[in-house]
Amino acid sequence: MQKALLEAAKEKLAPISRQAAAEGIVLLENNQALPFTKGTEIALFGRCQINTYRSGTGSGGAVNVPYAINIAEGLRQNSNVRLNESLAAVYAQWVQNHPFDDGGGGWAAEPWFQQEMPLDDTLVKQAAQQSDCAIVVIGRTAGEDQDNADKPGSYRLTESEHAMLVTVTQHFDTVIIVLNVTNIIDMSWLNTLADKQSIKAVLYNWAAGMEGGHALADILTGEVSPSGRLTDTIAHQLSDYPSSANFGNLDKNYYAEDIYVGYKYFETFKPEAVQYPFGAGLSYTPFSQKLISFATVEKNGVEELHFHFEVVNKGDSHSGKEVIQLYVEAPQGNLGKPARALVGFSKTKELTPGESELVRIVVPVSQLASYDDSGASGAKSCYVLEAGEYRFYSGDNVRQAHLLDASFEVTELRIVEKLTEALAPISSFDRMKPAAKAESGHYQVGYEAAPMRTISLKERIEQNLPQTLTITGDKGIKLIDVKQGHASMEAFIAQLSSKQLATIVRGEGMCSPKVTPGTAAAFGGVSDALFGFGIPVAAAADGPSGIRMDSGHKATQLPIGTLLGCTWNSELNEYLFNLLGQELLAYQIDTLLGPGINIHRHPLNGRNFEYFSEDSLLTGVMAAAQVKGLKDAGVTGTIKHFAANDQETARMDVDSIMSERALREVHIKAFEMAVKEGGATTIMTSYNPINGHWGASNYDLNTTILRNEWGFDGIVMSDWWAKMNSPIDAGKEDKSFTSYMVRAQNDLYMVVGNEGAETNPMKDNTLQALEDGTLTLGELQRCAMNVCRFVMNAPVMERPLKPFEPIKAFKAIETITERESICINDSISLECGANVEKWLNVKQSGTYQVSATMSYDRNSLAQSSCSLSINDEFSMSLSINGTDGEVIAVDGLQIRLTSGYYKLAVDFVKPGLVIHQLNLSMVD
Ligand code: BGC
Repeated sequence: MQKALLEAAKEKLAPISRQAAAEGIVLLENNQALPFTKGTEIALFGRCQINTYRSGTGSGGAVNVPYAINIAEGLRQNSNVRLNESLAAVYAQWVQNHPFDDGGGGWAAEPWFQQEMPLDDTLVKQAAQQSDCAIVVIGRTAGEDQDNADKPGSYRLTESEHAMLVTVTQHFDTVIIVLNVTNIIDMSWLNTLADKQSIKAVLYNWAAGMEGGHALADILTGEVSPSGRLTDTIAHQLSDYPSSANFGNLDKNYYAEDIYVGYKYFETFKPEAVQYPFGAGLSYTPFSQKLISFATVEKNGVEELHFHFEVVNKGDSHSGKEVIQLYVEAPQGNLGKPARALVGFSKTKELTPGESELVRIVVPVSQLASYDDSGASGAKSCYVLEAGEYRFYSGDNVRQAHLLDASFEVTELRIVEKLTEALAPISSFDRMKPAAKAESGHYQVGYEAAPMRTISLKERIEQNLPQTLTITGDKGIKLIDVKQGHASMEAFIAQLSSKQLATIVRGEGMCSPKVTPGTAAAFGGVSDALFGFGIPVAAAADGPSGIRMDSGHKATQLPIGTLLGCTWNSELNEYLFNLLGQELLAYQIDTLLGPGINIHRHPLNGRNFEYFSEDSLLTGVMAAAQVKGLKDAGVTGTIKHFAANDQETARMDVDSIMSERALREVHIKAFEMAVKEGGATTIMTSYNPINGHWGASNYDLNTTILRNEWGFDGIVMSDWWAKMNSPIDAGKEDKSFTSYMVRAQNDLYMVVGNEGAETNPMKDNTLQALEDGTLTLGELQRCAMNVCRFVMNAPVMERPLKPFEPIKAFKAIETITERESICINDSISLECGANVEKWLNVKQSGTYQVSATMSYDRNSLAQSSCSLSINDEFSMSLSINGTDGEVIAVDGLQIRLTSGYYKLAVDFVKPGLVIHQLNLSMVD
């Protein structure tokens, strides 16, 4: 770790993270209650004032933070307001007696909600007499492996939360609701509570990272005027979301709503179902937005629409930022179109009262196009502009956006891009399409058959096989020679034997000792032989909102993806991720496993918090910005999960079945933008199949579209312990079918165990397939080239090429006074439960092998690890994924100990696993 670099990055990252957190908070209601006037005393209700959620659960939330500012602390530290400290003390006491329930700390074990403190009337009445207003904090989480549910305690309020609202609104005239949630939640109580008129303000605070408490105080006190806007539609009822009919299925998830996701559905078919529209959010100051010019401009053969808006802060007391949202209404044509689609947006700088800014939004005409997967327009497999008038709208949110004097006429069908049919469904289903217009001016829902696959994948793959390089054996070419232009990548790769090639497509982890402790994967030169060719070992770490190191090392935790999306500020996202990139660089991590850029197809998806929005353009802009920020810092962002990992229930198995149009326009659009505009060079495939083919072995996804159409030349990695099936026939899937992965050009299998890349502990079939001719050597060499090309340009290539030193030496504490210790002659077995410390008295100096028998009673995707330290110095991680309770042997590292006393500590950083025996045995 480079200390100076790390300190420099952290110093800036925390304040910018606070700024981003404040910019992503969405103020939905404000009846003159906010901002607080100076000196306001606040009665703070809800236990999440103390147990404030910083993130969701699972890999995307597991950052070990140096500190965290909760909501109570954030307000307490702000000198503009006062907390009712006697009420705060009651909460502090109660929380102490009812500690945060982490479900045991295991993978996906944390409950969605926490038990709430029951409120007695006298306490609330007294607080109301003492304080000027009340804030009620409602907390929710969700995450990996665990969707939300349409139940109290998840999407709905619990009885005790509801009771809290009833009591507080009864006694206070001014109540502010702060939603410390990872997803949108049901808001119907706002209309049904008896004393609803007491609720004067409602804010989506989200889970705002470790600076969250400060950011909320900045907003409540008016130091920052809110400028966050919803990136999702909040409907009155969950059943109104068109994907509700299929979400949560265990085997087949039909995307029958087609391209009509979120507001694209509601604005086209059912506007009355919306409680808060996409793009909604208030400020403390009014703005005016006026279109002052519109022009069609042709630049280098590319036609663009240029919109200029004048934005004025019309208020007289507060500065603030304004968001300009631009929507198109395209002609229905033969394909059918949503009534509104976001085509551009921008955020102003902070405008003081009376100040104005000229905002330019540029929309390439190609962005207005639709993909014709049926031939209905006359141009199958093309992006087309159907004839008619394209109208534009702008305003405070999608519903309020008004028609602009700026239309664009297409007189006859225009082909914008000719592509080839790819990844069309192989199961038949009906997809949504606007039917007749109803009297209301909105469309009735109609359906048509989704066009099925017509091409042969067998022919496509066989006709595009890469050239096979004749194996030359070691010619003395090192990877640095390729980087410096002294040898070609082909000549370099030709040196590798098939066994070495099969090794390089395996990543090791979790917590590989070859890279930064506690990270998710090591890849590249993972065997001595590969290392001998000068291929260093690169590191990948979760992501997305901060660095996850299960070793217990600390990192900065940023707000969740949804909040960052709600900033509608791509420059800020780019800067924030540039600073995060510097932290990664300092920790010697080459790629962040993020951003997560799937679409919020349904509000119950547990991982929505990692993703930005229901809208593909907004997601794409944010993804490109974050990737660019990371790249400019010298590292990369691994965009994930490619594609359609839209539910956590049965995430390994459920087939996301959708039309090619929905895939291209909605579900992979953001990936395309992150590749083409952000320059992404790392991508993670999803666990689930898409139209019958599992993500990691999906040829059309990873080769036809990603590489051949988009020009991607980086690496594709699988998700951790993913499954694959035939890229040609689909069919049965298995974790060992790596030959299918290689064929599809998913270059890395993540992950085989530590030290496993060469020994093939998962018994994958890469070499077998070469032998029986179902995979060509050229295909395997192609993946190896992709891996090496990435590693060659990664920061690891700039670090000294050091062989992995597995044996760490520790010095005994010799001066220790007599204490209870366990003697080790040449070996010892210890029982250890949670976080133990033991003193060892090593009688014989020598090298000891650490090993353990461990079990983890969860499925194979659950992750857990513990760290061992010796004399307070980090020594190694022992990691395990779910074994369904089976006890397995796990090898740790070797350590050299001289005779004397040692303090051995085991820290269950990621709880869940059980260590049955921890063994140290002498090897020499
Ligand atoms: C998640 C990925 C994550 C990986 C490594 C998987 O379970 O789906 O998003 O990056 O684990 O932790």
